Amino acid sequence: MSNFIPKAWAHLQDDILPRDAVIAIDGPAGSGKSTTAKALAKRFDLLYIDTGAMYRALTLAALQASVDCTNEEVLVGLASKAHLELKTGRGEIAVFWDGKDVSAAIRAPEVDAMVSLVASHPEVRTIMVRHQQILGRRGGVVMEGRDIGSVVFPLATSKVFLHASLEARVDRRFKQNQQRGHEISRDDLTEDLAIRDKKDSERATSPLAISPDAHVIDSSHMSLEQQNDACALACLVNPALDLELDTDYAKSRPTIPFKYRLPFTFFHAVSRFFGMKEYNSAGKAVPSGCIVACNHVSLWDPPLVGSTFRRYKINTLAKESLFKIPVLGSFLFYIDGIPIKRKSFDKDAFAEASKSLLEGNNLLIFPEGTRRAIGHPGPVRNGLGILVQATRAPMVPIFLRGTHGRKPLGSDLSPLESNYGPVIRWHGLEALLEEFDRKVVSRRIADLCLAVFEEMQDRSYQRTPQTDFEKDLGARQLKKVAAREKIVFGR
Ligand code: DC
Repeated sequence: MSNFIPKAWAHLQDDILPRDAVIAIDGPAGSGKSTTAKALAKRFDLLYIDTGAMYRALTLAALQASVDCTNEEVLVGLASKAHLELKTGRGEIAVFWDGKDVSAAIRAPEVDAMVSLVASHPEVRTIMVRHQQILGRRGGVVMEGRDIGSVVFPLATSKVFLHASLEARVDRRFKQNQQRGHEISRDDLTEDLAIRDKKDSERATSPLAISPDAHVIDSSHMSLEQQNDACALACLVNPALDLELDTDYAKSRPTIPFKYRLPFTFFHAVSRFFGMKEYNSAGKAVPSGCIVACNHVSLWDPPLVGSTFRRYKINTLAKESLFKIPVLGSFLFYIDGIPIKRKSFDKDAFAEASKSLLEGNNLLIFPEGTRRAIGHPGPVRNGLGILVQATRAPMVPIFLRGTHGRKPLGSDLSPLESNYGPVIRWHGLEALLEEFDRKVVSRRIADLCLAVFEEMQDRSYQRTPQTDFEKDLGARQLKKVAAREKIVFGR
């Protein structure tokens, strides 16, 4: 590998990217994504997938069939019937639509002009996103697009948001078009790119947006080499930090704080008794100072997820009313619970939780704020974003399944699982705060957390398909959840 690895990490060299890494590169048209994504694929020996090419191929097919590009239904018909193939090697891509090579035709200015409209239809996106997830789920890919980090692969190993000034992007596209033999003036290009930016960022479904955990890189004044190096380095940050955590962990023995040992041992035994399966944690502790964000379907969730924790002091944000129940209330205070009022913004609870996180403790929260229907996570409330902005604390998501307790826990009707996600670090937060107010940023964090839960749920269903029991119970719970929401949050 070349010389872009910082000295301190040099010993990690090739091992630094996991073999199943997913690198997500998002950004506006002309920001240099394709060039850099191809270069990264080569550098790290990964497969390159250009998702824009998929929307382009559909647009070309629609234009050739003289289909009205505002007609979602017809476009969905086209997308679901056609056989779209990306023959992707290490660094190059060929696109086939129903067996025909359309790699060159999809770059024509007529396609440029219509593709954003085609890509704005939610049903079209659902089909394309599914396709992209199938292509990338085995890992070992660099995927470029607009919504890869935020929607397609919210759990990507590394995310880069590459952007550049409109001027710089027009310049690059102009040269590219000249090489391809397309005649289009700078003025027309400027207008075209500005319109596309607007359409791509303002559409309702998965717009072009900075994911709060993406590295934001402005390439306006970078040479190609600098841009590639900056992106490569960004891709290495998370895996390198994770490796450091591993070595740190290996050096010290995991110890559960003394006062938690009795409840931990008890609930650990309970969860093992019911056959709780723990995925991806590899028996390790969550790093210190992290928010542990867990989906919520049952009152069993806190003790069951707690039984998988190790090592650090952990506070739990829990509804105030629980602390008033005799015995349970004292127990919650004993295990460092923090009571929170849910109807209004509870400043004191957030201040205490933030302080504790900054001291290096963990904080368990259920960011949906109340129990949700199984199989239907979310919405995630603004509290998570407030905590993240106050502390910059990384987040470890956990997706629980099978804890609902209607039927014997851990029975075949619903497997009992706690699925650990990776450490999510907020590399894109400062860039987002420069552009948006704190409320919008909190929303973005909440949206990412929900996308993460959904992705983890999807992966769990892939391993063990959703059972009929889970489907039925989830459908029945949906109604109750709506009623509970009104009581809990007053709307
Ligand atoms: O990256 P590109 O210029 O080839 O993308 C073409 C269009 O497709 C772009 O205007 C937006 C859309 N697109 C999208 O909406 N989502 C993606 N993941 C990729 C592209």
